[in-house]
Amino acid sequence: MTHAHFPPLSAEQQAASTHLQQHIINEIQRQNGAIPFIDFMNLALYAPKVGYYTGGAHKIGQSGDFITAPTLTPLFAQTLATQLIELLPQTAGYLYEFGAGTGALAADLLNALSEHPSFHQYIIIELSAELAQRQQQHIAQHAPKMLNKVSWQHTLPENFDGIIIGNEVLDAMPIERICLQPNGALERVYVGYENQQFTYKNQALSDKNLFQAALNYFPKAHDIDAPYISELHPTQYAFINTLAQKLTRGAMLFIDYGFDQHEYYHPQRQDGTLIGHHAHHSIHNPFFRLGLTDLTAHVNFSDIAAAACDKNALDLIGYTTQANFLFNLGLLENLANAHNQTDTTDYIQAAHAIQILTAPHEMGELFKVIAFGKNINIDWQGFARGCICHKL
Ligand SMILES: C[S@@+](CC[C@H](N)C(=O)[O-])C[C@H]1O[C@@H](n2cnc3c(N)ncnc32)[C@H](O)[C@@H]1O
Repeated sequence: MTHAHFPPLSAEQQAASTHLQQHIINEIQRQNGAIPFIDFMNLALYAPKVGYYTGGAHKIGQSGDFITAPTLTPLFAQTLATQLIELLPQTAGYLYEFGAGTGALAADLLNALSEHPSFHQYIIIELSAELAQRQQQHIAQHAPKMLNKVSWQHTLPENFDGIIIGNEVLDAMPIERICLQPNGALERVYVGYENQQFTYKNQALSDKNLFQAALNYFPKAHDIDAPYISELHPTQYAFINTLAQKLTRGAMLFIDYGFDQHEYYHPQRQDGTLIGHHAHHSIHNPFFRLGLTDLTAHVNFSDIAAAACDKNALDLIGYTTQANFLFNLGLLENLANAHNQTDTTDYIQAAHAIQILTAPHEMGELFKVIAFGKNINIDWQGFARGCICHKL
């Protein structure tokens, strides 16, 4: 891929990227020449002030690097709100959003929940100070009357009684890259820096937990004929484990792209799912424009379910495609109600957004919704049809 397609960097962007690069090189040197890929990705995304999410990159939306569902249309949040309204009365009324991005989902949900008596407080837990500031501005502009119902926290509360939601949060967590050789040897991928460039360095996989997870999930060596590289998700597992331990009553609902374990670790998916996004291009080189390129990997929903249900005995409420979830909750009816079809421009724009959210070749099938519950009993309209829990 040539760099000619990409917008030139401003002096400020170049300086931020160089700063992050030097920060990572220092870390590699401090650790005798190589750091695990997961540490590299953590720094690339979250190094204080200069990581992709913690720095000044514009990130999400048309003028950023990628689009997310809440930034496409408020109908996404309005439809999700139907599920939350079903749930809220059985909880203490607290809604926790992890990784709220631009604040679009928060503002639209707040408007949709404004009249609801069981809704008390919207709490955003965000790692990026830069994004938290943008969220505050967005909510002040688009849901001004509800701003007093919102607070930002950096740490997790002792206990949750309410609903936890996260859209595209799990995919933004750093992953381990593991390589399976055709002779059965398992290697952990490290990042080094040689001859003025970042390079991969593999080392025998000695960590017992990672080794066990690779044995569980990766294909058998006899089913591959070349080195097979894929991801393991210990950060996501630990995140869900912590939330599940803290949930006293209520539900957790995550929307993201990914697969069940069988589809994820298909023998033909030889290079895993790690990908970068920059200026609406997919980037296959994770070292490209560091700090200005998003890095992400798909979610292994079987692993998420293992952390919530096998480890913490939460109830698996549902697992389905984003299209099924939104249709079950009345997305099309919401479109019809929100837009007077004689106002064609508005209607066509909204219908186009809905097509992106639900078409099988867009976000409709790759994106899944998974929900877990504890001490609640409702019908869960979002999973009424098309549940694929058996795949997990
Ligand atoms: C791909 S963006 C999605 C943003 C937004 N939810 C949306 O849909 O537009 C990922 C977000 O997750 C946040 N994030 C990642 N790990 C997190 C964690 N452990 N706790 C809270 N936020 C996290 C990032 O800072 C970022 O805001």
